[in-house]
Amino acid sequence: MTQGERRIPARRTVLGAAGATVLGASTALAAGAGTAQAAGARPTAGRGHGHGGYRSLPVPTVIAHRGASGYRPEHTLGSYRHALDLGAHVIEQDLVPTKDGHLVCRHENDITGTTDVADHPEFTSRKTTKSVDGTAITGWFTEDFTLAELKTLRAKERIPAVRQENTLYDGRWTIPTFEEVLRWADEEGRRRGREIWLHVETKHPTYFRSLGLGLEERLAGLLRRYGRHRANSPVFLQSFEPSSIQRLAKLVGSPGVVLLSGANSRPWDFVRAGDPRTVADLVTPEGLRWIASYAWGIGPTLDLVIPKDASGRLGDPTTLVRDAHAQGLILHPYTHRNENSFLPADFRRGTDPTAYGDSFGALKRYLETGIDGIFSDNPDTALLGAADFTARD
Ligand code: G3P
Ligand code: CA
Repeated sequence: MTQGERRIPARRTVLGAAGATVLGASTALAAGAGTAQAAGARPTAGRGHGHGGYRSLPVPTVIAHRGASGYRPEHTLGSYRHALDLGAHVIEQDLVPTKDGHLVCRHENDITGTTDVADHPEFTSRKTTKSVDGTAITGWFTEDFTLAELKTLRAKERIPAVRQENTLYDGRWTIPTFEEVLRWADEEGRRRGREIWLHVETKHPTYFRSLGLGLEERLAGLLRRYGRHRANSPVFLQSFEPSSIQRLAKLVGSPGVVLLSGANSRPWDFVRAGDPRTVADLVTPEGLRWIASYAWGIGPTLDLVIPKDASGRLGDPTTLVRDAHAQGLILHPYTHRNENSFLPADFRRGTDPTAYGDSFGALKRYLETGIDGIFSDNPDTALLGAADFTARD
């Protein structure tokens, strides 16, 4: 695959050609949305997935963050399935490895808060303190468990004080492997008559490589086995470490997305390699041009799209959307959530941090910037917000 083949048209070109169809409000709400064929899409011969590629997705694209994590314990098949039922266009997985090299879906390798591991006396001695990406963490870690051992655990709600209703499902599901998710996505695709899109993040890739548990080769192998390794396969690959996306780009054709945390932060692979650049450097036109040389998009924190002022209220948008689009990059910012505690101060309602605020109002501000999609814990809300937005277009 050449660089010329990988490069995408600027977003406005995409929206200009197929936008009238893609942006239809009913399309955004339909579980089967994402069928518009953008100009230039390359069909794939042979086995596996691959039709219109990501340009066939509705814009704004709603990405279910860790599944429908606003309603179910995150990264469970129950959370992923509920996200599909709600109509999410894409389902996110975060990947970490087990001791015996299997990729499992957890937001981080510390499984203390999202499983019942603390209730298993046979694993008490595995509790330990580690430095992960420069931060000392005490708990139980996936890389200290075989897959068979991890499968004896049950998933539970991460933030029960905020999402008490989700604790109803504590213990219902196990930790899914990524291979189980790939099989599940194929089955759901057949059942629902549409391709199931995934958005897959490599977590702490430099840390795991240092342990002999490199993520990218394992991930690429699974993507190949399940036919999701092509540029037009229904999958995005994401990482906060640019070198992970670069490594993946050499292994598979699937579109890569570089995640961007706060402006003052530095990707951990940069820290380890002595690269002095920060995220502030990466969001300059020069930095974005560099990202566009190997990736299709960026996944910035929403604060890089619209910063908050000292009181936590939304300010004016930055030029990031315009600058990224100018480099042919799409933007999938994170993370939209309904609860007051996660909303900008000007969209909170009442004083209960766990109550829902004016989530639609916040979505409107973010979508008006021209972002191409958004990660959301509440994909049904995000879909309605996207429909409101596109109806006004
Ligand atoms: O991957 C997009 C978003 O999920 C990044 O944040 O920490 O929830 O993985 P995090
Ligand atoms: Ca993620």
